[in-house]
Amino acid sequence: MKAARIHSTGDPETIVWEEVPQPEPGPGQVLVKVGAVAVNPIDTYIRSGAVALPLEFPYTIGCDLAGTVEACGEGTKRFQPGDRVWGSNQGLFGRTGTFAEYAAVGEEWLYPTPENQSDEAAAAGALVGITAHLGLFLHAGLQPGETVFVNGGSGGVGRSVVQLAHAHGARVITTAGTEEKREQCRQAGADLALDYRSSTLDDDIRNFAAETGGVQVWFETQREPTFDRTIGLLARRGRLILMAGRAARPEFPVGPFYVNDLRLLGFAMFNATPEEQRVCGEAINAATAAGQWEPHIGQTFPLSEAPRAHRLQEENTLEGQGTLTGKIVLTP
Ligand SMILES: NC(=O)c1ccc[n+]([C@@H]2O[C@H](COP(=O)([O-])OP(=O)(O)OC[C@H]3O[C@@H](n4cnc5c(N)ncnc54)[C@H](OP(=O)(O)O)[C@@H]3O)[C@@H](O)[C@H]2O)c1
Repeated sequence: MKAARIHSTGDPETIVWEEVPQPEPGPGQVLVKVGAVAVNPIDTYIRSGAVALPLEFPYTIGCDLAGTVEACGEGTKRFQPGDRVWGSNQGLFGRTGTFAEYAAVGEEWLYPTPENQSDEAAAAGALVGITAHLGLFLHAGLQPGETVFVNGGSGGVGRSVVQLAHAHGARVITTAGTEEKREQCRQAGADLALDYRSSTLDDDIRNFAAETGGVQVWFETQREPTFDRTIGLLARRGRLILMAGRAARPEFPVGPFYVNDLRLLGFAMFNATPEEQRVCGEAINAATAAGQWEPHIGQTFPLSEAPRAHRLQEENTLEGQGTLTGKIVLTP
């Protein structure tokens, strides 16, 4: 079989689509015939070496996948050959990545793919959906009727936050860079979609959130959080989620934070246990069944063109080129 691997960290062209032995499913693992994978910003940080994880080379890239179970290893209980599955959290902590024709995956990281969902859509929503669900529910304890703000409802995590918060009965404010993208945010469930460059942005957020006394959950997806303005827009006992910006060192207004009983919550999805992630996977499947979950695929490539896919992700996440709307999906 073939897999997209790197032999050292470096630029996107370090990825090689090469012949490798087909993996055998070990105890507790299933062998998945990969139908689709998706790119996430973290894939590019691992590949470039920007996030220094202990990697064993050659390293197969990729966290997300969807496909069909081909064989089951010893002791597996949840899946059988022929079952369609999706999952994330691979390519981390010694687990092999997903950008390959076959992947041996611990069954605790997999969820059944709903009948009406393509492998492409299941893979596109995997890491971003689990991240959004963990942030909104495990960490921020979102309640129906509360107001949520998320920057970049056109992005992978942002769109997932919009859909899951809306499905839970929250009021959702988001931002995006163009009117076309803002319209897509509204269709995904945003009650208010604003231009993040607008000079009236904060007033518009404040006015909309006034009905609930301010924003209850601020889900920050940007790598340079702006606490001075954000904290002033939160409701009493509001929760502020941080999940991006490893190098950021922003100023922090302590007084307005504590006198309003605010809470600051940081998390990385890959720290969540398989049991915690399964709660998210099942909720995402339930949202799919209810017609409330539709990942947006922006571009598709063959897996052999993984370097182009990584380059496109970087141009948007790191350089802000705005040439991508939706997830990048690859197929074998
Ligand atoms: N902690 C975790 O577990 C975790 C998990 C997943 C991702 N992340 C991190 O979260 C971040 C977002 O990931 P993603 O996959 O959602 O990225 P993405 O798909 O590239 O989305 C980025 C979003 O940011 C928006 N944006 C760009 N400039 C903006 C600005 N000045 N103000 C407000 N929004 C702006 C973009 O909007 P337009 O396209 O409309 O310009 C787009 O919607 C990344 O840094 C990633 O590494 C962390």
